[in-house]
Amino acid sequence: MALYSEKVMDHFRNPRNVGVIEDADGVGEVGNAKCGDIMKIYLKIADGVITDVKFETFGCGSAIASSSMATEMIKGKPLSEALTLTNKAVTEALDGLPAHKLHCSVLAEEAIKAAVKDYYDRNGIEYDPKQFPDCGSCAHCCV
Ligand code: FES
Repeated sequence: MALYSEKVMDHFRNPRNVGVIEDADGVGEVGNAKCGDIMKIYLKIADGVITDVKFETFGCGSAIASSSMATEMIKGKPLSEALTLTNKAVTEALDGLPAHKLHCSVLAEEAIKAAVKDYYDRNGIEYDPKQFPDCGSCAHCCV
């Protein structure tokens, strides 16, 4: 069996939603301390719904494919739904990642959460801090 699924290869070769939103309503940037890869997510939000999303990922193919898939999964969705997106769901949507690449999908989940948190902070919207654990304190921390 090939190391990477066809979906991973497709999203790596033709990533969706690459780029920058200059007037983004929320921006989240996260990095993996061990591999040094960085992911940045930009959100446009209207009435609690993600109307547009773009990403910049300086990282491995799995991180790029995860960003692409994750942005597709949250586009047009309410923030409450975007916050429930897990790296597991992203990995499943990609038809799997090799075990040693699972941490790459964690970056996508964390970058989306960071962007939503940034939106809440900018707009003085109250939230439960437990929704946004600091890097390193979540159950599926990077390896
Ligand atoms: Fe760093 Fe994939 S190896 S995110």
